[in-house]
Amino acid sequence: MPGRPVIQDEAPAAPVLEQDGQPVLLEVQNLSIHYIIEDQAPARAVENVSFRLRQGELLGLVGESGCGKTTLMLALLQLLPAAGQITGGKVYFKGQDLTAMNEEALSQVRWNDISIIFQGAMNALNPVRTVGDQIAEAIIKHATLSPAENVDARVVELLDLVGIAADHKEHYPHQYSGGMRQRAMIAMALACNPQVVIADEPTTALDVMIQAQILELLDNLRKKLGLSIIFVTHDLGVVAEMCDAVLVMYGGVTAEYADVDTIYNAPRHPYTQELLKAFPDLSKPDKRLASIPGYPPRLDDLPAGCRFAPRCPLAMERCHTEQPALHILGENHVASCHLVEAGA
Ligand SMILES: Nc1ncnc2c1ncn2[C@@H]1O[C@H](COP(=O)(O)OP(=O)(O)OP(=O)(O)O)[C@@H](O)[C@H]1O
Ligand SMILES: [Mg+2]
Repeated sequence: MPGRPVIQDEAPAAPVLEQDGQPVLLEVQNLSIHYIIEDQAPARAVENVSFRLRQGELLGLVGESGCGKTTLMLALLQLLPAAGQITGGKVYFKGQDLTAMNEEALSQVRWNDISIIFQGAMNALNPVRTVGDQIAEAIIKHATLSPAENVDARVVELLDLVGIAADHKEHYPHQYSGGMRQRAMIAMALACNPQVVIADEPTTALDVMIQAQILELLDNLRKKLGLSIIFVTHDLGVVAEMCDAVLVMYGGVTAEYADVDTIYNAPRHPYTQELLKAFPDLSKPDKRLASIPGYPPRLDDLPAGCRFAPRCPLAMERCHTEQPALHILGENHVASCHLVEAGA
């Protein structure tokens, strides 16, 4: 079925507050972020990316290294490094525009409403302080406890939520396994009872069994606390089981965005299709896993046409000269590819 192109230059629409009967917590509209460094071409790290996150939804953000995932997540909370600038678009949290907020207003949203587990954070725990102390510090710094609550009790409560026994609070990070350190980071992110948690590649450094346990923990927390979660990973297989929707990024743009069933069973973008070929099929254990030849483009030296064209097995002449628009393919399905226009 051919898709209808999304007009990306039109005036920003009012934020949507509800979708399918569920409140929309986060709405990102056409967000673009460039890294601007003197005497260098700007790196167009994120261009025209849009998505919505509903209450209780788990969104997977997937793409190869360097495709702009962390940049997009940091921009939501205006935590970009100095060279990173939002060059267009809006980020709404419950209808309020975060891109227009001052630092003071933003500091109310960070940790209290939206918290982020930074990429690699589990390795950034202070080695000479106990984990309990570091969680207590996060509580004191960011959370407001009622007079009846005490910090120590809250530390134990948070550790319990992430499946760590209370006596481990006296231990130092080196006494924790990788999985436990990541759980401790999740506990810290929950210190202020946020509604949205962003987990930036929380399982990459962990072995497969521990990865599965961390995913299960996040899924349980979502159900227990009604959290909305954005789960960032370069591995499409990781998000298969528990995500509701998947946003596939390639070279800073949206390749495809759809509910999880569509992404796995009827993907339309060749990049998504190639990523799925790299995903083991348990019914065919002997099948060789495919990998996509070539590398993602440099974001300061992008190809003229589709950013995926140089690696795309289905690329046509037009793909090398003309950037594809994002096409609406269904109620919750968009893809940026010339082939969908042709109805392929
Ligand atoms: N501090 C920075 N200064 C300049 N350019 C940057 C900076 N951080 C990132 N970039 C550029 O933005 C691109 C996207 O980086 P980003 O960290 O968002 O990717 P990612 O998808 O999170 O990758 P990974 O999976 O490796 O974490 C990089 O390829 C780089 O070109
Ligand atoms: Mg990253």
